[in-house]
Amino acid sequence: MISPKGKTALITGSTDGVGRVVAEQLGKMGARVLVHGRGRERGEQVVAAIKRDGGTAEFLPADLAALAEVRRLADAVRATTDRLDILINNAGIGSAGAGRQTSADGHELRFAVNYLAGFLLSYLLLPLLKQSAPARIVNVASAGQQAIDFSDVMLTRGYSGSRAYCQSKLAQIMFTVDLARELEGTGVTVNSLHPATYMNTTMVRRAGVTPISTVEQGAEAILNLAVGPALEGRSGLYFNGLREARAERQAYDAEARARLRALSLELTGLRAGEKV
Ligand SMILES: NC(=O)c1ccc[n+]([C@@H]2O[C@H](COP(=O)([O-])OP(=O)(O)OC[C@H]3O[C@@H](n4cnc5c(N)ncnc54)[C@H](OP(=O)(O)O)[C@@H]3O)[C@@H](O)[C@H]2O)c1
Repeated sequence: MISPKGKTALITGSTDGVGRVVAEQLGKMGARVLVHGRGRERGEQVVAAIKRDGGTAEFLPADLAALAEVRRLADAVRATTDRLDILINNAGIGSAGAGRQTSADGHELRFAVNYLAGFLLSYLLLPLLKQSAPARIVNVASAGQQAIDFSDVMLTRGYSGSRAYCQSKLAQIMFTVDLARELEGTGVTVNSLHPATYMNTTMVRRAGVTPISTVEQGAEAILNLAVGPALEGRSGLYFNGLREARAERQAYDAEARARLRALSLELTGLRAGEKV
């Protein structure tokens, strides 16, 4: 692994699950870690664990189910650090739940939290990432992917938690392919992955599934993209664990990606001056 000593990493959703393990491991490797989640108590516990191991960390709370909070998180990052070398968009909600839910902005909740929040956060933090280049963005997606039906992205018809989860995960991968092209020549790379299948996390337990992988396996795959030497200068890729893989067909459909991008810009209200 390339040593992250002296580098700063933000891991969204690092109060629990695989994100927590990645945050703790980056802390042990010497990175300054920005821990993110909703609950302050759990966030501070992760910070304390990193500090006990001799690392440096701070907790930045934000509920990614509100775009205003995503903006607040970006502001908090900028107020905390003048460099950002690694951004890991990991926070997510699984497929379990009692029917269709919406975000504070009225968007289908999994699309909002799993995809749209990371889309907006990445753009808001791009100036900092570019300034710190070489820098890397890692989008933690999933092997569970479903093509987006552009006539009903918010899933007002035929909703299922699994469909909502899978389309949000494919959206992350489509964004990765798209953003990589835009970032060519900037020294900022962006890759996505399926970390591991059914890790032993809250999300999987909530879905009533028996775990078959450890969080350490998923963390290893995420760290490979975040600090692995083989990924230097490589961008726009999708990995299944440690192996480069093909995502669902729609990820390679330029027209579908353009539609998703236009919709995402509209929904997030990203202004021209912010999109550098
Ligand atoms: N588990 C698997 O087998 C598996 C497989 C493929 C992909 N993945 C992906 O891996 C990532 C991590 O999953 P995990 O299994 O580690 O999940 P997890 O244990 O349930 O942890 C999810 C994390 O996301 C945060 N989060 C959820 N909703 C949020 C919101 N509205 N605002 C801010 N933070 C929020 C949680 O914060 P709080 O502490 O505030 O709840 C928590 O830190 C997800 O993107 C998931 O889709 C997981």
